[in-house]
Amino acid sequence: MLATSLFGILSLSSTGLGWEWGKSGKWDHRQRTTCHGTESTINYTTISGFFQQDDSATNSKGFDYTATNYGLIDQSYPTDNKFDPNGVKTQWERFAYYVNTLNRDCDQSTQYKVLFMARHGEGYHNAAESYYGTPAWNCYWGPLEGNGTSVWRDAQLTEAGIAQCTKANSFWSHSLATEKIPAPQSYYSSPLIRSATTANLTFNGLKLPADRPFAPTIKELFREGISMRTCDERSNKTYIQNLLPAFKFEEGFTEEDELWKGYEGETSEAQRKRTKFVLDDIFSNDDNTWISITSHSGQISSNLKVLNHIAFSLSTGQAIPALIKAVNLRKVKPVTTTIQSWTAEATCISPPITSISGQGCVCSTTTSALLATATPTTSLA
Ligand SMILES: *[C@@H]1O[C@H](CO)[C@@H](O)[C@H](O)[C@H]1NC(C)=O
Ligand SMILES: *[C@@H]1O[C@H](CO)[C@@H](O)[C@H](O)[C@H]1NC(C)=O
Ligand SMILES: *[C@@H]1O[C@H](CO)[C@@H](O)[C@H](O)[C@H]1NC(C)=O
Ligand SMILES: *[C@@H]1O[C@H](CO)[C@@H](O)[C@H](O)[C@H]1NC(C)=O
Repeated sequence: MLATSLFGILSLSSTGLGWEWGKSGKWDHRQRTTCHGTESTINYTTISGFFQQDDSATNSKGFDYTATNYGLIDQSYPTDNKFDPNGVKTQWERFAYYVNTLNRDCDQSTQYKVLFMARHGEGYHNAAESYYGTPAWNCYWGPLEGNGTSVWRDAQLTEAGIAQCTKANSFWSHSLATEKIPAPQSYYSSPLIRSATTANLTFNGLKLPADRPFAPTIKELFREGISMRTCDERSNKTYIQNLLPAFKFEEGFTEEDELWKGYEGETSEAQRKRTKFVLDDIFSNDDNTWISITSHSGQISSNLKVLNHIAFSLSTGQAIPALIKAVNLRKVKPVTTTIQSWTAEATCISPPITSISGQGCVCSTTTSALLATATPTTSLA
């Protein structure tokens, strides 16, 4: 499965020019700056065979990364003989060494990163979606501020959501000390409160290496797919900054949410396009190899698609790792496609009479009942 023979060949092209052990990418200025343009593009491949989550035989339902060493498969790597001749290193130490050699030996257009992608813990909007059912949530309750008891505009974590983060924090604490999991070198988060809070509760207070502090950056485009529901509207920058004072914001992050509309939703095509944009940004400008991303179920699904990873759904508080190979390719011919970015979503003006799972909700009017189709996908956000 692991092509040992590749090593001999690839190491010839290793230049080491400006490259440091533990980093990824030897891309030059041109490769970094033209990838969003028409001249070149980044092609992503998920290298499977390392994590249970990249195997289509693994059932994502009920899978718990905290009970499975983040899903890292127990196996030997071609570099074990050199790195660990006495067999005393952990699986993670040997995997880290192997990944670092992939970066050392690859050509100048290639790089490898390991992404730890975590979904936020349960938020009030998740609790409400379960309580009302997905169609009624999509068609009526979701677009509201809340229901008088709970608020779900830019939803906060519930008690259960906070407990999921505490569990994640214990997992990292144990794994850093015992399994020697590589601490992330960079941390990114969605600007939505549920994800930023999850990142903080997961990584705050850990014993991290001095050169790998928990210093998260908020990136707008790691937010959830933008539906017309209020849980997808983010708070203003001042509010986020006051709540999480040590978080940094990417350059150009606006005070107000300029993307959420409240009357129509982002198409999945548009979401994939901006997902490619944010991943290209990280792969072009961040030479770190071990990257943490705290985001959302729909957004992580979109990441997985762009990364050519198999689908793997995450329940709240769950996470998925992936070994990614990124190649900077010259574009043969520039592709110009027009996509539809926004689309109307079904709603009712009062609580629906009933909701039919997988079909939609039956709106009530004074005179008649209308069948509005709700997006049957469950637990986005
Ligand atoms: C890009 O990566 C995908 C997934 O690994 C692969 O199938 C495809 O051939 C690659 N495209 C090019 C142009 O190399
Ligand atoms: C509001 O929704 C929550 C579920 O998120 C539920 O527990 C609560 O009872 C609802 N409040 C009202 C007034 O219906
Ligand atoms: C930011 O949002 C908060 C909470 O919604 C609000 O109280 C505050 O006035 C807003 N600040 C600015 C600068 O708009
Ligand atoms: C995480 O939350 C704690 C407690 O509210 C706060 O002191 C800390 O600054 C936060 N961390 C970051 C990175 O903002």
